[in-house]
Amino acid sequence: MQIFLDTAEVALLKAGVASGLVDGVTTNPSLIAKSGRDFKEVIAEICDFFKGSVSAEVAALDAPTMIAEGRVLAKIAPNVTVKVPLTRDGLIATKTLSDEGAEVNVTLCFTAVQAMLAAKAGATYISPFIGRLDDMGFNGMDLIEEIRAIYDIYDFRTKILAASIRSPQHVRDAALAGADCATIPVPVFDALFKHPLTDKGLQDFLKDWAGTGQKIL
Ligand code: G3P
Repeated sequence: MQIFLDTAEVALLKAGVASGLVDGVTTNPSLIAKSGRDFKEVIAEICDFFKGSVSAEVAALDAPTMIAEGRVLAKIAPNVTVKVPLTRDGLIATKTLSDEGAEVNVTLCFTAVQAMLAAKAGATYISPFIGRLDDMGFNGMDLIEEIRAIYDIYDFRTKILAASIRSPQHVRDAALAGADCATIPVPVFDALFKHPLTDKGLQDFLKDWAGTGQKIL
C-alpha cells in the first residue's frame, strides 16, 4: 500500500520524506490554513523537494471555476494532483481536467456510489473519509471494502486513497481492505514504526551484545 502524508507543514514533511517510505502528500484548505502559509507557495515548495503526487485542492464550487483553478494548480509543478470535492460540479471538473491529462484526487467521499461516479469521471484517486464516518457511528472501513469490490468488478483503475486516518489500526484495516494508498497525519505515521516489544527486545539484545565485548566496526 502506498503511504501519503496528510499535512502542509514543510518541516514535518521533510522529516517524513527522509524515511524513504513516502509515496505522496495531500493537503486541503484546513491544512493550508493551519500552516499559515500562502497556498501556491507552499505547494511549490513541497514539489521542489518531493517528486511524488502532491494534492492541492480547488476552492470554487462551480465547475468552470474549479477547472480554471485546477489548471492553475496543475501548472505549479508536474507532480501536482488537483483535488476536487465530490459534488456534481466537482465531477464535471474531474472529467475535464483528467481528459486534459491532469491527475485528479476526488475528496470528501462518503458512499460507494459516489466513488463509482468519481471513477467514471476519470479520477486518479478517490478519497473516502474513514475517521469522519467513524465519528458519526458508522464503520468507515466498510466503505473501503465496498469501493474495492465495485472497482474490482468493473476494473476501474482509480486508486483508493483512504483518508481521514486517525490511528495505526486505521492504516492496518485500510491495507487489509485493499486500499491502494492511505494518507496519514504525521503523528500516526511516526507511530507506525513503534512497538514496546521492539524497544524491549532491542534493549535485551544490546545488553547481551555489550557482554560479548565484540565490535562489528
Ligand atoms: O485528507 C483528508 C483528511 O485530512 C481529513 O482528515 O482528520 O480532518 O477528518 P480529518
